[in-house]
Amino acid sequence: MVKPDGVAKALVGTVIARLEGKGLKLAQMKMMNIDRSLAEEHYGEHKERPFFGELVDFITSGPVVAMEWTGPSAITAARQMMGATNPLEAGPGTIRGDFALEIGENIVHGSDGPESAERELGLFFG
Ligand code: RTP
Ligand code: MG
Repeated sequence: MVKPDGVAKALVGTVIARLEGKGLKLAQMKMMNIDRSLAEEHYGEHKERPFFGELVDFITSGPVVAMEWTGPSAITAARQMMGATNPLEAGPGTIRGDFALEIGENIVHGSDGPESAERELGLFFG
């Protein structure tokens, strides 16, 4: 998913081009506004974390672009290209390393495993 900061910074095309360049295939895509209840469900695993409120505020602050990507080891490949959660720790050449400075505004979200991918695809495309 390209988060609201990525859309605001006009990085949707860049994110897509990078993943396509790697060889992954874009299977579904939707620009949308996430409402609070969907955001709270999406980020359910972080409900007890101190930054949960900010997480929900931010992801609902503007349009996002939800995407399904497929291909060999798509989750591992995509997360490698996204870079570390904290952009200051993300290497150059990664999306977060190249385009972000703050952990709360790190341009992209990626499912962290097959189960979360199934769950999140159901939330956004089901
Ligand atoms: P994501 O879910 O967005 O793909 O990122 P991730 O797996 O690399 O990181 P995760 O631990 O799942 O955290 C989700 C999002 O929460 C924000 N965050 N803020 N203030 C903080 O300490 C903190 N830690 C995480 C980040 O925006 C992260 O992408
Ligand atoms: Mg995560």
